[in-house]
Amino acid sequence: MLQTILVTGGSGYIGSHTTLLLLKAGFEVVVLDNLSNSSLESLHRVEKITGKKVKFYQADLRNTQQIADIFNENNISSVIHFAGLKAVGESAEIPLDYYEQNISGSINLLKVMKEFNCSQIVFSSSATVYGDPASVPINESFPTSATNPYGRTKLFVEEIMRDLAHSDPSWNIILLRYFNPVGAHESGLIGEDPQGIPNNLVPFISQVAVGEREKLRIFGDDYSTPDGTGVRDYIHVMDLAAAHVKAVTSHVKLSGITTLNLGTGNGYSVLEMVKAFEKESGKSVAYEIVARRSGDIAECWTDPSLAEKTLNWKANRGLAEMMKDTWRWQNNNPKGYKI
Ligand code: NAD
Ligand code: UD1
Repeated sequence: MLQTILVTGGSGYIGSHTTLLLLKAGFEVVVLDNLSNSSLESLHRVEKITGKKVKFYQADLRNTQQIADIFNENNISSVIHFAGLKAVGESAEIPLDYYEQNISGSINLLKVMKEFNCSQIVFSSSATVYGDPASVPINESFPTSATNPYGRTKLFVEEIMRDLAHSDPSWNIILLRYFNPVGAHESGLIGEDPQGIPNNLVPFISQVAVGEREKLRIFGDDYSTPDGTGVRDYIHVMDLAAAHVKAVTSHVKLSGITTLNLGTGNGYSVLEMVKAFEKESGKSVAYEIVARRSGDIAECWTDPSLAEKTLNWKANRGLAEMMKDTWRWQNNNPKGYKI
């Protein structure tokens, strides 16, 4: 019998790309999403690309009964838990919403899983849990901290899951700490579709290139980095999605709780990103240097070796592919999934 994976947040950016690869790998996929930050069109396109069906439930993690109904109607073997709110700035304005959706929502999900004897879960954590790291590259044993409510929700859910795994050895939990996901599926049919003004660098660059925004504001060129702009570990979303497929298949050999960083191990500056995008798109990206963004750090990249070894996986798409695929998606869909 085919294994059924529940993907919470499966119509979102990373969730839709992961759903695509799960279907391709032969899993049945059930998606739970309240569509607060995504469109069902992403899953229609996943179905078009794969020729396979996704079972979709418009449901909210704050509603335990809705989660239980999905478990009642499906024989779910593992969960990949993407659903939640993710905007750092907004999290400082409406912290209770972040705590409710990201933390209470995760607790509701875990309780239902326990009730249905489903003990395998992969959780979307973030490199933000390393705060301002003392050095780079960052490995999983670095100390954790948070400087904003969003980051705290990730840290708290990690801790809750750690306590749960210690309380009952039947839990099999994989915490994945993503570095900076970018890019899109090579078809140009699915990609990142931020609502309103993008917070993150690559969607902003591509919206400038397509004429949706006037110019990029580069937040500071006085960091102690080679060109003064911030350095990050950008990872292609398809490599990230592939790591999730490896994670659900690695549950069999793992036990308890496993924490892994997902990145490439390479750091690129904001100016390098702009240049790489211009090269791949043939468009020029207007920018100005402005003050640093509060809370930003100078540099952040991972030591990817533990994830590579544990999952038998490696991020193998380079910067050119990340930018080419971002541009294909943006150019084909200047307004994202909106017509
Ligand atoms: P996304 O916003 O595109 O996807 C999240 C999905 O969850 C959306 O489709 C949204 O509608 C849904 N959702 C939100 N609250 C919900 C609720 N209460 N009930 C049901 N559905 C709900 O974001 P993404 O970029 O795909 O991120 C996925 C996960 O990865 C998030 O947990 C995010 O915090 C984490 N993460 C993302 C990044 C990044 O840069 N994109 C980096 C590190 C970690
Ligand atoms: C963001 C999140 C962080 C999350 C991480 C991974 C914030 C404040 N932090 O961090 O919690 O874990 O993504 O997805 O949102 N930049 C500009 N101009 C822009 C946008 C960004 O110069 O308009 C610069 C930033 O200063 C940074 C780099 O580009 O140096 C990357 O920024 P961004 O894409 O927002 O990611 P992070 O800062 O790593």
